[in-house]
Amino acid sequence: MTLNSKLTKLLNEQINNEMSSSYVYLAMAAWFEQTPYAGFAQWMFTQSREETMHALKFYQYLADRDAKVELEPIAKPKADFKSPLDVFQQSLKQEEKVTQQINDLYEVAEQVKDHASKNLLLWFLNEQMEEEKIVRDMLDRLKLAGNDPASLLVLDREAGSRPAGGGGGADAGRTAR
Ligand code: FEO
Repeated sequence: MTLNSKLTKLLNEQINNEMSSSYVYLAMAAWFEQTPYAGFAQWMFTQSREETMHALKFYQYLADRDAKVELEPIAKPKADFKSPLDVFQQSLKQEEKVTQQINDLYEVAEQVKDHASKNLLLWFLNEQMEEEKIVRDMLDRLKLAGNDPASLLVLDREAGSRPAGGGGGADAGRTAR
């Protein structure tokens, strides 16, 4: 079954959205690299890899459906942040934005009765729910920690031990610290 043209366009846009997301997280990792928070840097680096895997999943899906892949430029991400709390607040906004994009995509897949695409997008909806929950949990703890360095360092250590998630292979190639 030929992939609907509107859906093809939106799935291509989602490759870009996920790569942009990867870049946003890489910029967050880079910001943390300049702070004492090596664990948060590791977390953001892992998340960046997850987002790249998401982009590649959409790429592979389009290729498997014999649809044309069209890549667009990736915007420069924000590089300066106020605090770990600020970074994670922006991370939550980022995830909520992506959840909305995937929701919109699902609706289009439903409209054109493309069940294979719906199946793919359901995987992403579950992934988004999980990602939002992880970020929200960390945000709650960061709010509790406030400006207390000892508490922040405990959270940083915890963040550094975050396993790779459902994006697949997200930890590969990163040396442990
Ligand atoms: Fe792939 Fe977390 O958006």
